[in-house]
Amino acid sequence: MIVSGFISVVIALSLNFAKEVKAYPYQPTSTVDFQVHNVRKEQAVAPPDCFPAIGFTMPSTLPSTTTNWWCDHSTEYAFVGFSYEVTACQSLTTLTKEFKDIRTTFKGRYVRIYGACDRAGFYNDVINAAWSASLGVHALIWFGWDDPNIWKTRRDTLLGILHSNPKAKFVVRVLQFGSEPLYDYALDPDTLATQVTSAKANLSSLHIPVTISEMAYGYQERQPGSNKVMDAIDIIDAHMLPFFSTEASTASASWPIVLTDVNWFVTNGQNKKIYLSQNGWPSVTYSGVEPNSPSAVANVQNEKNYFALLDSKCSYFKSVAGGGIGWFAHIYSDNQEPGYGIYGTSGVLKFPFAPITSVDLDSANPFSSSTSTTMAAASSTRALNAILPQIPTAPYEAHQKARTFASRYVKSNQYDTAIDVLFQSARELIKTGQPGSGSDLTTFMLDVYESKGEPVSDESRGRLTQLIALIGPDGGWRKTMIDKSIAWSAKHGTCPAGDPDLQHYVGELLYKEGSFEAAEIHFLASGKRDSARLLADMFLQWAADTSSYGLFAVRGTIPYLQNGNILAAKTFIRHFTSGLPASVRVESDSVINVGEKDEVTMTKDSLVNFAQMAVLTCQRAQGDQNKVMRESWVRLCGTYQGKIGLLATPEMRMSLNEIATLYFAIPPPRSQAGNPFGDMMSSLFGGPAQSQSARRTLTPASTSSPGLD
Ligand SMILES: *[C@@H]1O[C@H](CO)[C@@H](O)[C@H](O)[C@H]1NC(C)=O
Repeated sequence: MIVSGFISVVIALSLNFAKEVKAYPYQPTSTVDFQVHNVRKEQAVAPPDCFPAIGFTMPSTLPSTTTNWWCDHSTEYAFVGFSYEVTACQSLTTLTKEFKDIRTTFKGRYVRIYGACDRAGFYNDVINAAWSASLGVHALIWFGWDDPNIWKTRRDTLLGILHSNPKAKFVVRVLQFGSEPLYDYALDPDTLATQVTSAKANLSSLHIPVTISEMAYGYQERQPGSNKVMDAIDIIDAHMLPFFSTEASTASASWPIVLTDVNWFVTNGQNKKIYLSQNGWPSVTYSGVEPNSPSAVANVQNEKNYFALLDSKCSYFKSVAGGGIGWFAHIYSDNQEPGYGIYGTSGVLKFPFAPITSVDLDSANPFSSSTSTTMAAASSTRALNAILPQIPTAPYEAHQKARTFASRYVKSNQYDTAIDVLFQSARELIKTGQPGSGSDLTTFMLDVYESKGEPVSDESRGRLTQLIALIGPDGGWRKTMIDKSIAWSAKHGTCPAGDPDLQHYVGELLYKEGSFEAAEIHFLASGKRDSARLLADMFLQWAADTSSYGLFAVRGTIPYLQNGNILAAKTFIRHFTSGLPASVRVESDSVINVGEKDEVTMTKDSLVNFAQMAVLTCQRAQGDQNKVMRESWVRLCGTYQGKIGLLATPEMRMSLNEIATLYFAIPPPRSQAGNPFGDMMSSLFGGPAQSQSARRTLTPASTSSPGLD
């Protein structure tokens, strides 16, 4: 059958597996909310005049009400404080001293309690110490592992103190059930959701919200029951310990792991405020808490690097819906949990620790990259106070006001302020059902991006993806926003085909809506590995109706090859082939190994086989240096063009010739007409669109280029 025809090609492929063409490096996917329900409450007081802002002066007597007491969630992102373990039943004196240390030494605003102390009145000490240190508290009902019912006693005691201590409602920002009650199956998800709901009811007069402290995996593994828990909680206290990921290596390389979990919370978190409550990287590992990856490194340098990594993502944290992401360092001292402490057991700092907070972005911290944005946020407050409250009642006036303010700021070169005003106004307008006005302000914001020369960053892209997600598919506004956003990103990012993260985001959005054809272009233009994977998933679904798997195999592979993106082509075809239904597979002996790391899975569909071999042949190309591969390519194309009509069509011939020139330095046939992909290619490789007579070839990558997986 079909298999015998290509054995010679496969053998040729196995002869050379040394050189690989350079491809785009993997980059993490950026995040945006898909579901935005909560309309943000307008904030009557701003930092430092709200609790627990840095610089807030505690009143000498208790206020009569919590109205205007708490800072808005949107002012609490980046570092917010420490996790603090209480099994030691610290005395009031120790609590007060250490809470003040958190506040003054590290500019912490919260302490997140971890573990339990069952000494009578212990939570009164926590609350009183927090009040004297001006520190907010994430209180905790601890389940533990010994007595299955002790949490009930702890719950009743803690609820009782929250009601009886008059300071409680002024310092307790949230009550958590924890830790990891879903993951540990402390309660079944339904019961847990009911507990959260009754605690909320119990605390409603005090306005203390309720949540659980849990990792993304805990929610994921208890679905669908955990969806009720997600519905019930007021804010999200997320656990983030990337050291335990199966993909962990060093802390500095852990951002993709963090982002995967953060993305899950952003997508499923219903726009609730997110804190990373149990969040860190250990400096030692010991029996019982070993990593799940052999490459995971535990030492002080990595513990330190993890927090430096979070500092470097500060502007991203700020941009996440729900008021930005605030993070706690887990944990205050090695005495509380060995290896995680910022302080060692002797009370000395293990490394210098001065994380960026949302209030000192513009002060002396050398890591800060968002100085101008923070100052813009400060100066846009006046405009936004005039605009936002008007939106529900007089959207037309609010829209005009936003334009007027923004124009004024642009004229005085205050671009960041203009951007902030336009972004926030557009967002609120869209949320209140004014997509036309919102879209108009988005276009204006992109014009300001252009005038300013705003580079593509997590933050500048994050504004656009938020607005794109909010506006929805109806009415044509989104298409305009997407096109204009991509045009801006092509001009001000590193990739002339548009920012890969933005392209991926849009592709995924359209794919999830079922707009396959529209999504395809964006996945191809993105070229990220994640995009190639999703493209394969989508094509598998799309092809299922007609069983035209081969057509889609080629449709995913060839454009990536033409873009010089071997890595994406390879990711795509592997993922695609492994997802094929049994009807297309060959029963036995269908896998042929190629070199050490690669294989071709023979299927009943010749085009699928062709696509796999085309990728492996191009991967081993070295221009005209590797004669064997050149010949393999020619033979591969010849064999299949004789067999399959589609490959012999003029369009397909043109694409294959393009690839022949690009990878194997085979001159194009003289008669070849203009090729739009060729022009796209040229611009990708930095030159102007070339005439078809000019030859383009890829330089073979050095042997040290990273392996493809
Ligand atoms: C809240 O719960 C505590 C402990 O179970 C109870 O003593 C108190 O009466 C409850 N208060 C309200 C308002 O439900």
